[in-house]
Amino acid sequence: MTESPFLKNRWYTAAMASEVDRQPLARTICNEPIVFYRRENGTPVAIEDRCCHRRMPLSRGTVMGDNLRCHYHGLTFNPSGDCVYVPGQTTVPPGARVKGYPVVERHTFIWIWLGDPALADPATIPDYRWFDAPGWGAKSTRFHVRGDYRLIIDNLMDLSHLAYVHQSTIGNYAVAENANTRVFRHADGVTVVRWIVDQAPPPTYARAGGFTGNVDRWQIIDWKPPGYVRLFTGAAPGAAAGQPFGFTELETDTPTGGIGLRNLNLITPESETTTHYFWGQAHDVKPVTAERTEAIFQEIYKAFMQDWEVFELQQTTIDRDPASPTVDINADAGPIACRQLLERLVADENRTTRRAVAAE
Ligand code: FES
Ligand SMILES: [Fe+2]
Repeated sequence: MTESPFLKNRWYTAAMASEVDRQPLARTICNEPIVFYRRENGTPVAIEDRCCHRRMPLSRGTVMGDNLRCHYHGLTFNPSGDCVYVPGQTTVPPGARVKGYPVVERHTFIWIWLGDPALADPATIPDYRWFDAPGWGAKSTRFHVRGDYRLIIDNLMDLSHLAYVHQSTIGNYAVAENANTRVFRHADGVTVVRWIVDQAPPPTYARAGGFTGNVDRWQIIDWKPPGYVRLFTGAAPGAAAGQPFGFTELETDTPTGGIGLRNLNLITPESETTTHYFWGQAHDVKPVTAERTEAIFQEIYKAFMQDWEVFELQQTTIDRDPASPTVDINADAGPIACRQLLERLVADENRTTRRAVAAE
């Protein structure tokens, strides 16, 4: 039994809902090859993308009613992954099945459970309601990143990089030099709160908010394992009321006279060194119009492209020498808290799996 580098008993974002239809979709998640399609009634299905006959990828097959027929010799599988038909014979051999996965469609995404199906409770899907709640404008997309998913978490949990990577878009030096930062460790996550008080707004904010003087700027960054990072960022004059910190809760409404954005990240490992990165922006700036939603998305998208380059360059140097030494700085408190919790959760899960296997 090999140890998994990934948490298995968690929901992962598998696809944007719009990506899954009656054509099979192949996608690898945490090194598991999976095929997605929809039943006739529209509900999503996920089964192993490897025929149990001669290992043809089932994603090359054809959806027939609610079932999937293999392209090679026609074995047909139901949405649970059981083989229900073998051409030319009246019986199905014992053990003719592939792995079936619990899947749920929610908040415009398809979610999958890789671990013990008995533990798959849809109530534990992270809250991304901003993508489909009334009164909100949102747009999202998916990127394939040639980088370890943890590099993306590191990036989001330490926004001091805005001053450098994003100087031309959402950053300025105040973000690195003058931020008051607190890191909250929770039983199942980490929140980094940053306030930059009484400073000039960066170019994007100045344009969007029409600010003429200094503002108080906040960044509430909430991580839940494995790869869910929800950010509430914004600026408003006097939002911290002269204190080093204003509010610290992700759920807070934007203060009057300010602008606020929800930057929503759903980060799913494809392998140890590649990632499906689902990423979106949501806002409730009135009036919420498709044009405004698109404009906000495009503005932040520019910034995202600057990060993407960083991830892939980091991964290239890691691949060259994975053991090369690194140092930590104060700004790493958030990313380090996430990595420590993630490491502990993975070790706990592997230990539980080992015990269960030993008891069998
Ligand atoms: S490999 Fe799928 S039916 Fe033979
Ligand atoms: Fe960034």
